[in-house]
Amino acid sequence: MHDLNNLYTDYAELYAIIADDRDFEYELTQMEVFKLDSSSTFVELFAGPAYHSTTLKTMGWDGNIIAIDISKAMENIAKKRGFSGNYLCSDAITALSTITQAQVICIPRYSIVLVDHDYVKQLFNVIANALCNDGCFFIEIHKDSVVNEQALICGDWENLDIYRREVKKQGITIECLWPFTTDVVDAEKNILDMSVKITKTDDSGKQDEFIFNSREHLYSRTTLDNFASEARLVPAPDLNFDTSDGHFIAYKKKSNSAVDSDYFKTLREKALNRIFDLSTNETQSKLIEKSGLDVEHHDSPLSLHVYNLL
Ligand SMILES: C[S@@+](CC[C@H](N)C(=O)[O-])C[C@H]1O[C@@H](n2cnc3c(N)ncnc32)[C@H](O)[C@@H]1O
Repeated sequence: MHDLNNLYTDYAELYAIIADDRDFEYELTQMEVFKLDSSSTFVELFAGPAYHSTTLKTMGWDGNIIAIDISKAMENIAKKRGFSGNYLCSDAITALSTITQAQVICIPRYSIVLVDHDYVKQLFNVIANALCNDGCFFIEIHKDSVVNEQALICGDWENLDIYRREVKKQGITIECLWPFTTDVVDAEKNILDMSVKITKTDDSGKQDEFIFNSREHLYSRTTLDNFASEARLVPAPDLNFDTSDGHFIAYKKKSNSAVDSDYFKTLREKALNRIFDLSTNETQSKLIEKSGLDVEHHDSPLSLHVYNLL
């Protein structure tokens, strides 16, 4: 069995054939990229063959296009397939850290499962920094009916539309089963090993079979919302949309004024709690008594009634 990274390096061409199965123009329209002018920047993370970036260019969009992927083989394939923007062959966090004022940043096709929680946390912060003020971030995950809060790890994988794909090209048939098998690695952290089976059959019936193992970190919408909130990104549900076999969630960068008001509210609460905690038991009791709260059942942090007395 090969590691999945092999699919993105030694067998990148195979991935590019199998994964070319979506309506990229529709996805870009939903991301409202065609409404942006030529001074805007579009960034595709974990780009692989860079289908979205290449479609954008083919459709005549003349803004700044940046694709980022760690695999040199993917960069070569993207260029062979017509990509003509700026392809940064690098780790996503490293490359994105050099970018500012992006209007749209996207992560298509569940690529986020390839990286662990610490990485995603850091990546969301870098995304927030790279976006311009009204910029938007789109991330594709499995539909909630498959990977949801209750059934994260034991999703109904065989019923996914993406489970079996078959492509015929130049006398060759390629069948892909994804996942072919699943094996729970860590149920608490939602880590799974999924094997991917790809069978190549030529005209004469000769078959080649490849099996790759993919270590996947599954993320629920709530987990992603939490990372987003820590990075000061807010959900933009009006821009969410479904694809043939996935769901894109949209986040907007919080405006500076919203960040400031949240920041000062938290600071005020922290300061008042500190004052309350530092006061003597007698003062605390008096304050609570004055506020009309039940002393027995009052816990720190300080309630709003007590704030108003201070
Ligand atoms: C599922 S594939 C490509 C998905 C592609 N965007 C699509 O829509 O089909 C995931 C890609 O992520 C890349 N990748 C994995 N880890 C990465 C990292 N830390 N930084 C950048 N790219 C990474 C792999 O090389 C691979 O090309």
